[in-house]
Amino acid sequence: MLKRLSPAAVEAYHGDGFYFPVRALSADEARGYRRSLEAVEAAQGGPLRGELRHKGHLVFTWLDALVRHPVILDAVEDILGPNILCWSSSFFLKEARDPAYVSWHQDATYWGLSEPDVVTAWVAFTDATVENGAMRMVPGTHREQVVHRDTFATHNLLTRGQEVAKVVDEARAVDIVLMAGEMSLHHVLMFHSSPPNRSHDRRIGFAIRYLPTRVRQVAGSGDSALLVRGIDTYRHFEAEVPPARDLEPEALARHAAIMKRQAEVLYRGTSVEPFR
Ligand code: NI
Repeated sequence: MLKRLSPAAVEAYHGDGFYFPVRALSADEARGYRRSLEAVEAAQGGPLRGELRHKGHLVFTWLDALVRHPVILDAVEDILGPNILCWSSSFFLKEARDPAYVSWHQDATYWGLSEPDVVTAWVAFTDATVENGAMRMVPGTHREQVVHRDTFATHNLLTRGQEVAKVVDEARAVDIVLMAGEMSLHHVLMFHSSPPNRSHDRRIGFAIRYLPTRVRQVAGSGDSALLVRGIDTYRHFEAEVPPARDLEPEALARHAAIMKRQAEVLYRGTSVEPFR
């Protein structure tokens, strides 16, 4: 029995590789999340950078609450089943009139996971519009892994500036337009990209990567994840620990060690500095 999505929504997800919009937070809650992020940024003197943009749910209690949000997990459970790990999370920040963009890619390419049963819940802290660089997706492109090439292009937000090494049928692309507090769900093999932010306000998205517990990391050892629903009888991933309070030193030390291991997987075979 489905908990959050309609049968038509689940069918659309499997057929197209994505589904949106799903209301995850109220507009007020979304504003609260933006304020929490911006309080951290004010204390640190600028937009969130480097490792803290990733797996922030292991150092900030408010992001830990978000990756466990019952509405988000109910929707994810409708696709992945009841035993769910949060493997990662990342902020995708585009400042006003920011040249940052994301090239056409499939998330699965460098993640090293044993099967493509990974759902991304992309939660909009601000509206995501065509003008401010909302994601674009090509329906039905989630059925096979294709070859990518690394570009390490300057304004590309991806770890390697990787892009699909074939012509993408952009005429078929759908703009994933969201209101603040809504989310989209997409498959780990989905072709997606996003253009620069041409608006006068920043665009803030928080992408949460969920796996069913049966998935394994096959590209390296010692990967870890946070159990957010159900039980983990497989124990393929080391169990991560949520933060007791924001930026507590123990949580920061654990986070730094985890990011080091994750960089070994995501940047394998390259010589770039991770999470620049
Ligand atoms: Ni992506």
